Order: sequence, then C-alpha cells, then structure tokens
Amino acid sequence: MAVKAKTVLLSGTAVLVAVVVGGISMIGWQIVLGPTARPTTDRRFEVTQARLDRGAYLVEAAACFHCHSEHNLSDPEFPILEGRRGAGWDLPEPELGKVVAPNITSDPETGIGAWTDDEIARAIQEGVSRNGSALFPVMPYLNFRNMTDEDMASLVVYLRTVPPVSQVRPRSDLIFPLSLLVNVMPKPMESHVPVARTTSEARGEYLVRTVAGCQDCHSPSHDGNPLDGMDLGGGFRLSDPGQNMEPVFTLNITSDPSGIAHYDEGLFIQVLQTGYIPGRMLNHIMPFESFQHLTEDDMRDMFAYLRSVPPVKHRISNTDPPTLCPLCEETHGLGDKNVKPVQGG
Ligand code: HEC
Ligand code: HEC
Repeated sequence: MAVKAKTVLLSGTAVLVAVVVGGISMIGWQIVLGPTARPTTDRRFEVTQARLDRGAYLVEAAACFHCHSEHNLSDPEFPILEGRRGAGWDLPEPELGKVVAPNITSDPETGIGAWTDDEIARAIQEGVSRNGSALFPVMPYLNFRNMTDEDMASLVVYLRTVPPVSQVRPRSDLIFPLSLLVNVMPKPMESHVPVARTTSEARGEYLVRTVAGCQDCHSPSHDGNPLDGMDLGGGFRLSDPGQNMEPVFTLNITSDPSGIAHYDEGLFIQVLQTGYIPGRMLNHIMPFESFQHLTEDDMRDMFAYLRSVPPVKHRISNTDPPTLCPLCEETHGLGDKNVKPVQGG
C-alpha cells in the first residue's frame, strides 16, 4: 500500500502547507512548546459484543491496517504480510523525512497494549501520542475527531483484541519545518456532540467524510489549499509504485455528467465491492479492498450522500493522453476538455 500511504502523506503535507499559507496567525507557541494536549482521563470503555463487532467493521471502513501493516509490495494487490496485521510500517516517504505508522497491536511492550483507553482515544481523535507528542496528520485524526463517542469506544475496544505482535518501530522523524509545524495540528476536543443521523444522506456523509475519508483523495488541492467549488471533483495526483510511480489521478465522484452521473446504486456497490468500473479494473490506489467490507446499506447511504453534493464539472481520465487542465492545473487525461468559468466581477 505504498500508494495509499503516499497519497495520504501528500494530503497531510497539504494540510500543513495550508496552515502556513492560509493562517500564519493561527500558529502560536505550540510550534516550540509542543502541541496543545488535554490531560488524559481514566475513562474506560466497557467491552460488549456489539462494540467488538462495530470496531472490527470500522477498522476496515477506515482502512487502519493499510497504513499500520507491512505489505508485500511485489504482489500487485499489496496484501498485508502474514502475521503483521497492525504491527506498523515505515512509510516509504523520504521527501517528508521518516514517517512511521506505529505498532498498534495489543503488545504491551511495542504496541499499545499498555495504553489506557483514553490515551488511545486521544491519539486517534486528537492527534496526540501517549507521551504528549503531536502526530503527523497523515494519521487521519482530523477526520476521526468527528466520530461518535460510541464508534470511538468500539474502535478502542476492538483494537485491544488485535493479536499482539512484538515489533519495535522507530518514531517518525519529519524534515524541518514539518517537524515543528506538526505541533499546531492537534486540537483537544472540547465537546462531544452526538449528531442524530436520521437520513440516508446524513449517514452517508459520516461514512464518506469521517470514517473513510474519500475527500482526502477525491478533492483536488493546489499548494495545499482545497480548490474552491471542486469538492469531490477529482484530479488529485497520486503515484503508482507498480508503474514506476506513474501519475494516477482520482476521478470525479460528484453527480455531474463529467463525474458519476451514469452510476446507479447497483453500479456504485459493484465498484466498491470489486474495483471494476465498466470496461476495466480501477487502480489499486483506490482502497476498495477495505471498502468492500462495508454493508450494502452503508454503501447505499454513501451513494445518497454523493448524489447530494454540488455537482462539479471536471473531466478526468486515466486512460486518455494527459493534457493541461485549466481547472486543477494538473496535466491529466481529458484535461484540455475542461473550461475555466469566467470569473464574475
Ligand atoms: C493513511 C495512513 C493511516 C491510517 C488510515 C491510519 N493511521 Fe494511525 N497513524 C498513521 C501514522 C503515520 C501514525 C504516526 C504519525 C506520527 O508519527 O506522527 C499513526 C498513529 C496512530 C496512533 C498513535 C500510535 C503511537 O504510538 O503514537 C494510533 C493509536 C493510531 N494511529 C490508530 C489508528 C487507527 C485506529 C486507525 C483507523 C481508525 C488509523 N490509525 C488509521 C497512519 C495512519
Ligand atoms: C487513497 C486514495 C483514494 C481514496 C481514499 C478513495 N479513492 Fe476512489 N479512486 C481513487 C483513484 C486513484 C481512482 C481512479 C483509479 C483509476 O482510474 O484506475 C478512484 C476511483 C473511484 C471511483 C470510480 C469513478 C468512475 O469514474 O467510475 C469511485 C466511484 C470512487 N473512487 C469512489 C470512492 C469512494 C466512495 C471513496 C470513499 C469511500 C473513495 N473513492 C476513496 C483513489 C481513492
């Protein structure tokens, strides 16, 4: 899963760059003093079968082990190495320094087996490790902070059952200035507001944005800033390690004709379950191996949500010759078929 790692790392960098470019004033003393972290509490999450089941499900839907496990990169499907599930992975990302997804198995010495429930929850949702240091936001804590308390409890309860693997991992060692900037990212959670998600769209939004983080790959950005009006409109550039790091672009998953207007629920479910779109297999960068474990009801909710977001006009292809796109300023297939709207005023 070098690809996925790369992807998310890049979006992590993007987030940091956005912080610098977009809001110097937000940057305070945390840069030198370390992240803002609340003290941990002694809360404990009761173990129930419902939580174990839900936690196991969320771990797949959020693709935790894609980053937190070593993969066989010589197999095109990048399967997790036998017996290494959750034992961590040194992400191959030299331009950012050393980025390591830690061992999150229940091993007390080298994993998180000796952590308290609240220490684990704080790491996952607030981006602060047990020792108080900031986590690099390639770990999607900025999404996970919106998880419901019950889902968070389920994740922690389930993580404790992940078989221990004894494997020491070095800590991440980011290049300067990321090593300092990372300190401004964690934010303590002030309140936990349970959101009633009564409609299919609202449940889908939660799955898409908070749990699976589809937008991390499918929304284009420029110099770390998300492009206005292009949410979920595709065009984010990734690299395919199976193809000499050739660029692969995410596709437009809004309901515009240039996106997935031609999808119905059935096709959406089929794509998530199999990785096949009409005519071909999707690149494995799209983590359908994890998403295939979602229930069809959840997939239907996600589809309902995607249908409800503003349609974005953005033609992209990974099978046509790359041309410069005036919208996202990347060079991708069908790029020259896009027209930049005339700015009013
Ligand atoms: C895109 C890759 C990615 C995904 C997906 C991901 N993580 Fe992480 N995670 C990381 C990285 C990288 C770090 C370490 C960041 C650093 O060193 O600054 C980390 C850190 C952590 C830590 C802190 C461990 C420590 O020793 O400090 C925990 C706990 C954790 N992740 C749990 C999870 C869980 C649970 C999920 C799924 C719900 C998850 N992660 C999904 C990449 C990921
Ligand atoms: C790690 C990055 C990544 C994440 C996360 C991701 N995708 Fe993708 N997705 C891609 C890439 C890359 C492609 C295009 C692959 C290709 O063309 O072979 C793609 C293609 C697709 C397609 C096919 C579109 C078409 O035109 O037929 C759909 C549908 C899709 N993704 C939905 C989703 C949904 C829903 C989520 C969240 C549950 C998601 N993706 C999360 C990278 C990602």
